[in-house]
Amino acid sequence: MTPITAQAIAALDGERLWADLHELAQFGARDDGGVARLTLDDNDIQARLWLAEQARELGGDMQVDPLGNVFVHLPGSAPDLPPITTGSHLDSQPTGGKYDGAYGVLAGMAALRAIRETGIQPRHSLEVVSWTNEEGVRFAPGTSGSACFAGVRSEAETRALTDAEGITFGEALDTCLARLDDAGVERRPLGTPMQAFIEMHIEQGPILERRGASTGIVTGIQGVSWFECEVRGTANHAGTTPRAARQDALEGACALATALRNVACDDADRLRFTIGRFQVFPGSVNTIPERVLFTIDLRHPDASTLGEFEARFQALAVQEWAGCTATLTPLSRIDPVTFPTGATHAIAEAAGELGQCAPRLVSGAFHDAIHLAGHCPTGMIFIPCQGGISHHPSECINAHDATAGARLLTATLCRLACSP
Ligand code: HGY
Ligand code: MN
Ligand code: MN
Repeated sequence: MTPITAQAIAALDGERLWADLHELAQFGARDDGGVARLTLDDNDIQARLWLAEQARELGGDMQVDPLGNVFVHLPGSAPDLPPITTGSHLDSQPTGGKYDGAYGVLAGMAALRAIRETGIQPRHSLEVVSWTNEEGVRFAPGTSGSACFAGVRSEAETRALTDAEGITFGEALDTCLARLDDAGVERRPLGTPMQAFIEMHIEQGPILERRGASTGIVTGIQGVSWFECEVRGTANHAGTTPRAARQDALEGACALATALRNVACDDADRLRFTIGRFQVFPGSVNTIPERVLFTIDLRHPDASTLGEFEARFQALAVQEWAGCTATLTPLSRIDPVTFPTGATHAIAEAAGELGQCAPRLVSGAFHDAIHLAGHCPTGMIFIPCQGGISHHPSECINAHDATAGARLLTATLCRLACSP
């Protein structure tokens, strides 16, 4: 173990990390113990401003790019070299937990604080990033900030996204950027070089807990496709319209949704099919629905299998459903990713130094790392969450695993930041 790693591990303050996680959770705190911090809402902006204060206390500074991705920057001894970057996201689900995304950002801050404590300046600069709109709840699809950073999506198409109130991503982003400007956060261009990106995250599944492991090495992320489905019928009077004369959009949407779910059944139970939002219009008790909108989240580790089910879904959508018509609009498709061995190897070597068993696993959840893998050598580290529960207010991790994960991240960053 090199001196910088040994000293940084010794300096890592797990209690401070635990306290910071619960201080950050105040921004968007829910009465049920969860968090609601939607993309670019006031809670998200306040969390960013809080992170900027943490950056200053650390002795670094914060920068923001045109997508609102914020970077806490700690210069290395060779500042012209591309940085080693870690981080995740601060936005949450509407009924989210305290740790999804937040743990990755704050474990990164704990690691930079520990490395700084050593007084040894690594060659590469170190950065902690928080990507904008990972969740994709307020503005679909998700992973906007990292997708634009990696050149996978355009700034213009992302700025044009609108939320349920008709506010555009661009309007919400400009409000956030103005607040960050006022707080003295410097601007930086999009898509800057990175030597490597290591994302730290809670597993959001049961594997590590079942294995009794405090950390895991993520070898890849499964593919994900999002769709919006619109079913159009004819509104009419609930009391006077005979069944034979109806084109009930709800009846059609339910029939189509059931048909899609019946198709999305694989014997291996590896396909993931979710209808998360279902909206009926005009939504009046005594008017036959004329329009239904629902979302589909489809996932699989194999790209061709994902494509096969997308085609089967489109074949269903063109049929007539209770006399209604349907349109299935793709919102995003992100192919599965296998992380390059370089980054994964660095994590595995660091785990060996720390005596952590760190089993390898594929992520069922997507993360910003899915796009960074096309930008630079990328890897991920997981810690377990209790019962594998996530995207729920009861999402929970324990302090021991939180510290173990931060130690592994610290050792990995030291290894990468001191490399030529
Ligand atoms: O949906 C996901 O996989 C991520 O947690 N946003
Ligand atoms: Mn997440
Ligand atoms: Mn999430």
